[in-house]
Amino acid sequence: MKNIGIGIIGTGERGCFILGARFAELAQETGFRITALCDIVPDRLKEAASFLIEAYQVQGIHITPALYNDYNELIVDDLVDFIVITAHTYAHRQITVPALESGKYVYLDKPISVKIEDANEILEAERRTGNTLIMGFTRRYEAAWQKAHELLQEGRIGDLQMMQIRSLIPYTRYLQLWHRRKKWSGGALNDKSSHHFDAMNWMVDSSPVRLTAMGGRSSIFTPDPNAPAYCGICDRNCPYRRVPVQGESREGGHILRYPSWSDAKDELNRADTCVYKPGADIEDHALCSVEYANGVKASLFWAIFGPGSDDQETCELVGSSGRILLTRGTGEIEIISDYGKSRKVFFAGGKDFYSSHYGADKALIREMLRFCTVGTDLVASSKDGYRSLQMVLGAEESMNSGAVPVSFQDESEKGHRVG
Ligand SMILES: NC(=O)c1ccc[n+]([C@@H]2O[C@H](COP(=O)([O-])OP(=O)(O)OC[C@H]3O[C@@H](n4cnc5c(N)ncnc54)[C@H](O)[C@@H]3O)[C@@H](O)[C@H]2O)c1
Repeated sequence: MKNIGIGIIGTGERGCFILGARFAELAQETGFRITALCDIVPDRLKEAASFLIEAYQVQGIHITPALYNDYNELIVDDLVDFIVITAHTYAHRQITVPALESGKYVYLDKPISVKIEDANEILEAERRTGNTLIMGFTRRYEAAWQKAHELLQEGRIGDLQMMQIRSLIPYTRYLQLWHRRKKWSGGALNDKSSHHFDAMNWMVDSSPVRLTAMGGRSSIFTPDPNAPAYCGICDRNCPYRRVPVQGESREGGHILRYPSWSDAKDELNRADTCVYKPGADIEDHALCSVEYANGVKASLFWAIFGPGSDDQETCELVGSSGRILLTRGTGEIEIISDYGKSRKVFFAGGKDFYSSHYGADKALIREMLRFCTVGTDLVASSKDGYRSLQMVLGAEESMNSGAVPVSFQDESEKGHRVG
């Protein structure tokens, strides 16, 4: 097996501690070798290099990645065959276009971008260069979601009629990291629900034709002008305090152990900005309904202040003769078929369930290998990224344009009110 040189652009949580760590774990199996790293924060780049060199060392492999602050230099590095883009979402277009132009293999993490114009430029670069990128919508690589999709395709619940994704996640970190400003992340809805909208498009297998949404910012996180800048200098008793933790954690506390986050002065690079600090302009909850060209109706019930629980995210598929309920946190699927005559519950999470994103990142890396070697029908493409961004932006537009007002005041009362 020939080794494949990887260059990671954006060596933060996703690039280094999640995907980078998985690249190392699977290095013997895949032949992927990290040959270059790039980040605009010099300390973060050094932290990532030492973390990844050690992670490869554990596998008995020595790597010596070249370190760059300018992504253009990494893109043209001869030892890089495969460019992995895990920089902040607002920077995706500027990096992805030259990466595609280089003719090398390209992976772009979700969401595709913050602005639709940027997504358009990425798609246009693909058309111009004939080079197609692979995208990272992790639910498409999760074993339980793949199983639910397979059951649906097999017609086990008849024809799909309705779908609901319920995601009540304890992700107040979106108000504490770079996601807190839309200009950087496109909002929490873009960062998290780009996955959800993509999963809907994948399951429903049709084009969305209408969308409506309500949502915004709850009163839970009302900005407080007297809020401290960040948790590290705060002595309030607060349920949202972020603390450094050992090892990889789903809440991302591990990055707080690194000085490039803990010593950072700016909001873009801190990981523990106070949730109440003014300036965050992102939504924290939403209800969205989507109608598809094939008549299927889908809905999203989403908040980032849900308490952590096994069933914090579920996906329900309602067919003409049955129903599937997937519980993401347990990897369980319940299938009720044959008009209710049969009911089964089983674990569908797969052998890597306890790895990051319930095993999706390992599956994604194996898919990247197929992408770089045999070529493959893409599990997720830029077009999927484009479509989910359109839905996020459509949901925001709908939230802002206002819903039909409902009043309990009857006609006879109108005009008789004082004040
Ligand atoms: N697929 C998934 O499930 C998943 C999970 C987490 C994050 N992500 C995505 O990965 C991306 C990164 O998120 P993160 O949580 O790792 O953020 P992060 O802040 O931890 O890391 C991003 C890094 O990119 C660097 N960067 C920004 N602009 C750059 C540029 N022009 N050149 C080089 N480096 C640059 C930053 O300095 C930072 O170190 C985002 O788009 C995010 O939505 C995807």
